[in-house]
Amino acid sequence: MAAVYDRSFGRLCAGAAPAMVRGLSDVTPARVLDAGTGTGTLAAALADAGHRVTAVDAEPTMIELAAVRRPDVTFVHAALPDLPFADDAFDAAVAGFVVNHVERPRRAVRELARVVRPGGTVRVSIWPGAPASPLSLLWAAVVERSGARPPAGTRLPPEDDFARDAEGLAGLLTGAGLDGATVRKVSWTFSIAPADLWAGVEAGLATIGQTYRAQDAATRRAMRAAYDALTADRPGGLLALPSTALVGSGSVPG
Ligand SMILES: C[S@@+](CC[C@H](N)C(=O)[O-])C[C@H]1O[C@@H](n2cnc3c(N)ncnc32)[C@H](O)[C@@H]1O
Repeated sequence: MAAVYDRSFGRLCAGAAPAMVRGLSDVTPARVLDAGTGTGTLAAALADAGHRVTAVDAEPTMIELAAVRRPDVTFVHAALPDLPFADDAFDAAVAGFVVNHVERPRRAVRELARVVRPGGTVRVSIWPGAPASPLSLLWAAVVERSGARPPAGTRLPPEDDFARDAEGLAGLLTGAGLDGATVRKVSWTFSIAPADLWAGVEAGLATIGQTYRAQDAATRRAMRAAYDALTADRPGGLLALPSTALVGSGSVPG
């Protein structure tokens, strides 16, 4: 799972790493926590920027792969919203595309704030809900052409959820007790070979992967055929998908 994530959707998330690292701390090296590190791309960028990095993930295979790559980062198997670290243990904490996955985003951000010292930064990224990205439009076309039926989505209880826009993300940070919440829009082009991206779908990753896994064999084949038709004849054989994330930052009061 980790290797397939790394080959497919991990490359998409990597596009936001520079914006997650830049200006994170006024001290270097800072003690930085990367929560939901995946295969460690953001943790590696933080370490390359000179920080002392601890990284956690809920999925053990992610940690195993990341740890082989980056022995200079401390990897720990742990899940938000319960981190095995003392109050104020870090100068900053980041979570790249994690609070949009967890069941308790408000508790998750409060926990990130708990482990950061007063004056330190908590920074998180999410995918905006609108406008639909070229990648989500591609998946919508695959679903429509193939006649696939997405499984019923599970919505978070209203008291736990937040709007997937700049205002909603700022509100999430402020509601967790952080000061001076700011949200930036970050854009880049996600380039990937169609076969690499499809590997993530077949493995059941992301919403489109869950939809794929929920279909019978014939519909899965139809999804693949639709994807092949939609991604054929790309210059250089690569998809080049403009992508946008929201990066929100706030500081721990005190
Ligand atoms: C979309 S990936 C992002 C990975 C990485 N942060 C990046 O930007 O490349 C989300 C990651 O969060 C992890 N994750 C999901 N729920 C989590 C939780 N409650 N606590 C810690 N990690 C979690 C997943 O296992 C996955 O590795």
